[in-house]
Amino acid sequence: MVKSLKEYPIKDKTVILRVDYNVSIIDDIIVSTKKIDSSFETIDNLIENGNKVIILSHFGRVKNESDKEKNSLYPVYQYIKSINKYNISFCDEFMGAKLDKAVAQLSPGEILLVENTRFADINDKLESGCDVQLSLYWAGLADYFVLDAFGSMHREHASVTGIAKYLPSRIGFLVEKEIKNLDKIINNPKHPFIVIMGGAKLDDKIELIYSLIEKADYILLGGGIANTFLKAAGYKIGASLSSSNSIEKAQMIISEYKDKIVLPKDVICTPSYNTEVTLKSLNEIEVDDVIGDIGPKAIENYKRIILTSKTIFVNGTVGVYEKKYFSNGTQEIFEAVSQAKALKIVGGGDAASAAEKFGYVDKLDFISTGGGATLEYIGSETLPGIEAIRKSNETFFE
Ligand code: 3PG
Repeated sequence: MVKSLKEYPIKDKTVILRVDYNVSIIDDIIVSTKKIDSSFETIDNLIENGNKVIILSHFGRVKNESDKEKNSLYPVYQYIKSINKYNISFCDEFMGAKLDKAVAQLSPGEILLVENTRFADINDKLESGCDVQLSLYWAGLADYFVLDAFGSMHREHASVTGIAKYLPSRIGFLVEKEIKNLDKIINNPKHPFIVIMGGAKLDDKIELIYSLIEKADYILLGGGIANTFLKAAGYKIGASLSSSNSIEKAQMIISEYKDKIVLPKDVICTPSYNTEVTLKSLNEIEVDDVIGDIGPKAIENYKRIILTSKTIFVNGTVGVYEKKYFSNGTQEIFEAVSQAKALKIVGGGDAASAAEKFGYVDKLDFISTGGGATLEYIGSETLPGIEAIRKSNETFFE
């Protein structure tokens, strides 16, 4: 086990806290504040214990100077400030004299949010290359490191795994909760255990399917992932999205686990994503058809399986739920999941956003804040971030 902040509190110190504030901001508005709100339990604990808190997070991908403006963490700072709960300030430099001064001026109970760690990637990829000097610099600002950025723990970046090499470290409350809940899927899930998997690309998720297929009773597929499997099974999918790199692997999975893979029997199509949608059975798909959602027969079949299951893991959506005429399948699947007398866990950004959009958040047991990190944790049962804290706990005797 790794040391958690809950079990090993830190008192009256300067703490560098890595969170995941990589949220979507459209027209200056934060689309969902869930990731930010999920960090407050750890922040509250650190403040109540009289610590000075320096917060680090990445935000988006930063390759050059022109990426800086749209990837500033300033809107996140404004949001936290607007809650009127925290004594928080913002430093627009990720390293250097300005940051040193801001840290020196911190009083116990105060928070300093530092600008996007990935600004350090311009020119030299110091953050994502896990640069030693940058890791040492950040570690030098504090006495302890707390890692609560679950969504980033699959990254071997300076602010994630680098700092932990040089400071005694803990996982925060969010990471502890994520591990506890995702472990329910990994370790002896109650059967029938089903996985509902959708989303655009199979390439990112094929390993996850491999790691879950032995444990799961059924894997219900939708979205671009289902298209790839349909193609692998010999169906025509017209102009629909699929992952050509994964066709062979999909064929292997189908031949080995035919009875576990559940594919849609009918689909909602449109020629080239216009608004004229048509319900089609699998043998009616034409060259210019684009599959955007699962059809009513598929929904009925999926619902029947969902309602008799005891553990459900939802990863991705079965249709292009952002478009009204392709949203029915996703909504119906969430409705069935919410009715099932099962443990219901959702992982991955899209499925979480859809659950929020259709009002199912309170009807699910746990929604992971991670995207890639959630998939990697379930697949490999650990993450570079967890291993970094483990090593730090072995290195520093407290
Ligand atoms: C996420 O949003 O999944 C995490 O913040 C990781 O972001 P990244 O893929 O840019 O590292």
